[in-house]
Amino acid sequence: MSRVIAIANQKGGVGKTTTAINLAGSLAENGNRLLCVDMDAQANLTVGLGLNPRTIERSIANVLIEPGVTIRDVIVPTQTVGIDVAPSDIDLSATENTLFSAIGREYALREALQGWAHENYDFILIDCPPTLGLLTINALVAADSVIIPVQTQYYALKGFNALVNVIDQVRSRGLNPDLRILGLLPTFFDGRTLLGRDMLEELKSMGDHHIFQNMVKQTVRLGEAPLVGRPVTEYATNSEAARVYRGLAREVIELG
Ligand SMILES: Nc1ncnc2c1ncn2[C@@H]1O[C@H](COP(=O)(O)OP(=O)(O)O)[C@@H](O)[C@H]1O
Ligand SMILES: [Mg+2]
Repeated sequence: MSRVIAIANQKGGVGKTTTAINLAGSLAENGNRLLCVDMDAQANLTVGLGLNPRTIERSIANVLIEPGVTIRDVIVPTQTVGIDVAPSDIDLSATENTLFSAIGREYALREALQGWAHENYDFILIDCPPTLGLLTINALVAADSVIIPVQTQYYALKGFNALVNVIDQVRSRGLNPDLRILGLLPTFFDGRTLLGRDMLEELKSMGDHHIFQNMVKQTVRLGEAPLVGRPVTEYATNSEAARVYRGLAREVIELG
């Protein structure tokens, strides 16, 4: 069985997709088989792993709403050994509306991953869109655990409670009773500034959550990543960013 990890935060630009790509890269380096599921209509994960959305005929959108289309039908390999993608495309925004009136609408992704995907991958990483809508709920219902990237800059914690509330409801309404918050991942972190250190203190006060020790600093290496189409562990293998994401992968494995 694979471990399924959702990477969620309804704020955009906090490093969800960057974390999905580079955590995948680090886990794949250790010989793990990865499936990255792109649940965002913007398809940044799909592009960030080197795929051209224009060449994608069927995406996760088809899997979620078309009976008979399985995850296996849409998965494509990437240039990085060990990483496959279930790509997204712009249709995914319409999918959310269609799914809304479907029976079992919260379980569509969970069901899609049952069987073949669980048997063929060590890890399934789900990159969530910047909303708390049905696509994010689907990710939370399909996942064993959630990583929450938090941008350690102004207003970063606004909305954090709303996300934790949704996670609590997914558990308490029985959609996924065992869902666990694996940890909060500080991103764009600058430990040299008062703001960075203050934010970290504030993060610690947000409840009894694990905070990953491998915090992601702001770095051009990661800013240019979407253009490269590969994880930083491959294209800047000795960079500080690669080192941090390798450390994060170790923490994720240790947390079990
Ligand atoms: N640690 C970082 N340092 C510099 N730029 C980053 C870092 N993490 C992400 N970025 C850049 O910031 C933008 C938003 O990151 P992204 O991972 O797409 O966020 P999200 O998926 O939460 O919207 C992207 O252009 C990405 O390349
Ligand atoms: Mg994203």
